[in-house]
Amino acid sequence: MLTRRTFARLAGIATLALSASVLTTMPALAEPIVIKFSHVVAPNTPKGKGAEKFKELAESYTAGAVKVEIYPNSQLYKDKEEMEALQLGAVQMLAPSLAKFGPLGVQQFELFDLPYLMKDYDDLRKITDGEVGKGLLARLEPKGIKGLAYWDNGFKVMSANSPLHTPDDFLGLKMRIQSSKILEAQMQALGAVPQVMAFSEVYQALQTGVVDGTENPPSNMFTQKMHEVQKHATVSNHGYLGYAVIVNKAFWDGLDPAIRGKLEQAMTEATVYANSIAKEENESSLAAMKAAGKTEFYELNADERAQWVKALRPVHDQMAGRIGADLIKEAYAALGTQ
Ligand code: LMR
Repeated sequence: MLTRRTFARLAGIATLALSASVLTTMPALAEPIVIKFSHVVAPNTPKGKGAEKFKELAESYTAGAVKVEIYPNSQLYKDKEEMEALQLGAVQMLAPSLAKFGPLGVQQFELFDLPYLMKDYDDLRKITDGEVGKGLLARLEPKGIKGLAYWDNGFKVMSANSPLHTPDDFLGLKMRIQSSKILEAQMQALGAVPQVMAFSEVYQALQTGVVDGTENPPSNMFTQKMHEVQKHATVSNHGYLGYAVIVNKAFWDGLDPAIRGKLEQAMTEATVYANSIAKEENESSLAAMKAAGKTEFYELNADERAQWVKALRPVHDQMAGRIGADLIKEAYAALGTQ
């Protein structure tokens, strides 16, 4: 994992190398090319900060030939609409959660939702940087979408207004999920009632009791103030939530190659940056929520964790038909598990 300091050094070297060529190679344009980058989370999250870094680098490396406009917090589009807007070309760039590609017909991304598939960020790298990760991004092309990168968020906590120590505690609870059939099966395996809902609606749904609980990495829970409307949370790390950065393929392929090259460079470096801060952002968000004292955070003991694993691991086999048994096997092989 790159530290912030290593990133700053690498970025510095890259900037020096690039700055000499930037001004000479950019085509002269009457108006800057605008990239609208829409997303649903707060600016002070791993994704929000990654988007800001991309904007800064893209505008600098193209010497202003490209302008990146960021629309955070579902300001422009909610979950489902943003995918449609990208395909229609109303926005050019998104970074949806990997759990949100099912409605697009690329449900294989739901691999990342399998409970207890990956135990930490090192495991995650084995998937995102390997053949499985590359193969998944390639599946987007027939949909008119190009996948540029994976951006990390983190491992999820479960929250509700009642304690969640064992699977029995979920019985009958209405739990908000993203639009993933794996997450639906996960909640059902716990005896809960899953409810798909756009991210922008979750806080209010928790506040008014439309749903009882949800799951998210601490950075999302904190920046949406969900801890103010959830009395209990379990640091279960039962699953992962992260992103694919995607662009409208026709837009991307239509760019002048010199400009596209600079944007690719900006994306490579923004990805290094985003993925170097995600773990720390989640740790500091968890610490901040604990300090705020509104939610009681619980750590599972070994016996309770074993009960969660026992209840949730069968989801892998149960949902193999949706994701593809071969893809799951490929992921196990990359992870060295079975
Ligand atoms: C969610 O809907 O819970 C997340 O996908 C939000 C996000 O983009 O991190």
